This record gives sequence, structure tokens and C-alpha cells, in this order.
Amino acid sequence: MRDVAIIGVGMTNCGELWEQSLRDLFVEAALGAIDDAGVDHIDSMYVGCMSSGLFVGQEHIGPLMADYLGMGPVPATRVESACASGSVALRTGMLEVASGANDIVLVGGVEKMTDVGGDEATYALATAADQELEVYHGITFPGLYAMIARAHMETYGTTLEDLSWVSVKNHRHGALNPKAQFPHEFTLEQVMNSTPVADPLRLLHCSPVSDGAAAVLLCPLDQAKKYTDQPIKILGTGQATSPMALADRKDPAFLDSVQLSAERAYSMADVGPGDIDVAEVHDCFAISEICCIEALGLVERSQAAGAAASGLTAIGGRIPVNTSGGLKAKGHPVGATGIAQIIEIFEQLRGESDARQVQGARLGLAQNMGGSGASSVVHILERIE
Ligand code: COA
Repeated sequence: MRDVAIIGVGMTNCGELWEQSLRDLFVEAALGAIDDAGVDHIDSMYVGCMSSGLFVGQEHIGPLMADYLGMGPVPATRVESACASGSVALRTGMLEVASGANDIVLVGGVEKMTDVGGDEATYALATAADQELEVYHGITFPGLYAMIARAHMETYGTTLEDLSWVSVKNHRHGALNPKAQFPHEFTLEQVMNSTPVADPLRLLHCSPVSDGAAAVLLCPLDQAKKYTDQPIKILGTGQATSPMALADRKDPAFLDSVQLSAERAYSMADVGPGDIDVAEVHDCFAISEICCIEALGLVERSQAAGAAASGLTAIGGRIPVNTSGGLKAKGHPVGATGIAQIIEIFEQLRGESDARQVQGARLGLAQNMGGSGASSVVHILERIE
């Protein structure tokens, strides 16, 4: 397999972007990546998207996006793995370049979630859970993660305050990110006293419903310097699955798919969790950041719940997590999220993150998952000298 590099990135803001349609969002991000890399053509493209059918009534978006981008007739493929659609698209594009099948591959992700009301968005998102065992019985995603949080509290003694510190920390980071949907700081008291959503989770423990798109350009590492002085190498990729229904899992408070996808990525990259300088993880709810950092091995299990409160995972701490503000503050346009995480790591490794910069970052990790962790993907990126 050939080594693969990221040579350009582009991203829209996250938020309620009323003036832009699904295709406008994708094209803005994709043109940004094409301009950034300075390529004059692409050989193929992938579009990560969870549910354009339910959110805007549009399926078959591979060719639609290729056409609106002015890139038809390139091969264009939509990739779906719920909230992990973006990172599965990246893995697919990376493997295409690594295989030698194509050289210049565009990988984007997009979701337009705010054109429907809250109940319809909740229904669309819930299609990523087990319909027969969970959704028919009335469960929603905040409800599923509330059960994970309860299980974590009972098994490991995690507290509401621990969950709330994750949100305080991620909003502090997000306040430094001009693309964030909620670039505001909140106090611990504001988070703990925000509106209850699904006990124990409150509004400020939840990622929002968002519009947005993100895109990256890939090429073989040995061609990358033709396009940019600072390509970033994809050192490892790993993907795994778990039973979809929480009730079918051995320990609902532990995310096996995250651990397994990380082990595969670490093994390919020949590094361990202690080598990682900066990480973006899937904090769709505050509890999921805690579960992810322990399954990734970024912190000891006994330290995971208290990691945000102790400053361990803040910018300036031992292992900064979600420097973008995470899904919580930056926003969570589900199909775009995996690519947006990669862009944050790309910019961190190039030293381009301004006030959010983690000094000297050389190795970064991005972890993205679908549903309540039924699918998980981990990528490890490296700054090359
Ligand atoms: N964080 C911070 N503020 C939020 C927010 C969030 N997650 N969600 C909404 N808000 C704000 C809105 O901006 C609005 O503020 P305003 O009154 O000043 O304008 C206010 O809270 C109410 O917004 P509204 O859209 O009516 O909220 P809602 O009650 O319909 O939705 C949630 C709130 C938490 C239920 C919704 O954001 C949600 O479902 N989040 C989870 C999404 C999800 O499951 N993603 C997939 C994960 S796997």
C-alpha cells in the first residue's frame, strides 16, 4: 500500500445556516479544499452523509455533488455510517489512494439538519439506533446516552459534575473557534442547571442539531510536496463495530468499538496512546467524551471521569481533547463531523490553530462514531518534517 497525505482542507461554519442548501454547503467546503491544495482536477470523490433523505428529501447525492462542484463525470460515491459517515468516507478514500487505483481523491462530509423541526430531527437521528429493540419502544439518542451515563455513574462513580466539566472545557475551547456554532463559555453552574433533556443529561451536556460541511484532498505522500510544503500523513486508520442495541453489550458503559478501532489504528501507525499530542473525540454527549478517552487509552480509566475537571484534557494539559470545541460547542452536522475533526487535527499539526494551538503537536488522533457506538473509526495523523 502507498502512504497517503492530506494536502488541502475546506470547511463551512457550523450552525443554523438558513441561506445555504445541502449542495451549497458541500460545494463551499469542497472548493475550499481544492483551492487550498491547488489541484487542477480530481480523480474521484466520496461524500459522507447520514440522512439527506430524511433531513432534506434528497438521496443519490454522490452525482449531485459532483455535478454542482463542476467535477462530473468523476466517480462520486456517498458513504453512510450514521454520525461516523465522514470518517468512513475518509477511510474509503484513503484506501483508494493507498491501493494505487487513483491519485487525487476528494473526501467530504455534509449534513443539513435544521430544515426540519426538532421532532423530525430526533426521528432522523434515531434511525441510527436499533429500530426493533430500541426505537419502537420510544428511545431517542439523548435517552440512549443518558442510559450510558447512568451505567457509568453506577459502575465507576462518575458524577453530574464530571459530565458538566466536559462541557465547560469544550465550550472554553469552542469560544476560540470562529467556525463554532456556540462559541460561548459557560460556568459549571450554568451547565449543571441547564434544562433537563434525558436524566441525567441536560441541554448543555448535548451536542446541537447543526448544518455544515467539511472536505479534504488526498494524494500519495510521495506526490504531496508538488501541492503543499506541509502535507500531513495519514499514519493509521482503524474501524470496528459493536452490537447496535445497548442491551446486547457486555458493559453498556464501555465502548468496545472505540477500543478496537483504536487498537487497529495504533497498530498500523506503530504508535501507542502515550505518543498522541492532541485528539478530537466524539463528544455527542458529555458522557461520550469520558467513555471515548478511556477506550482510546488516552487517560487511565480511573482518571477519565475527572480528566476535564483536572485540566488534563484542556489546551495546556497533558493530552488536549477537542480543541475545536468538540461536537458540543463547534457543532455536529453529523455527516460532516468526521471530516471536521480531521481538519482540526490537520491544522493543529501544521501549527495553524491560532489561540487553540497545542504547542509542538506532531501526532494527532481523530475518533468518530456512529449511533451509540455501534461503529467507530480512528485515524492517526502525523506532521512530517
Ligand atoms: N447546546 C447549547 N445550546 C443549545 C443546544 C445545545 N446542544 N441545543 C439548542 N440550544 C439552544 C438554542 O440555540 C436555543 O437558544 P435560544 O433560545 O437562545 O435561541 C435554545 O437552546 C433552544 O433551542 P431548541 O432548538 O428549541 O432546542 P431543542 O430543545 O429543540 O433541542 C436538544 C435541544 C438537546 C434536544 C437538541 O439539540 C438535540 O437533540 N441534540 C442532540 C443531537 C443528537 O442526538 N445528535 C446525534 C448524536 S449521536
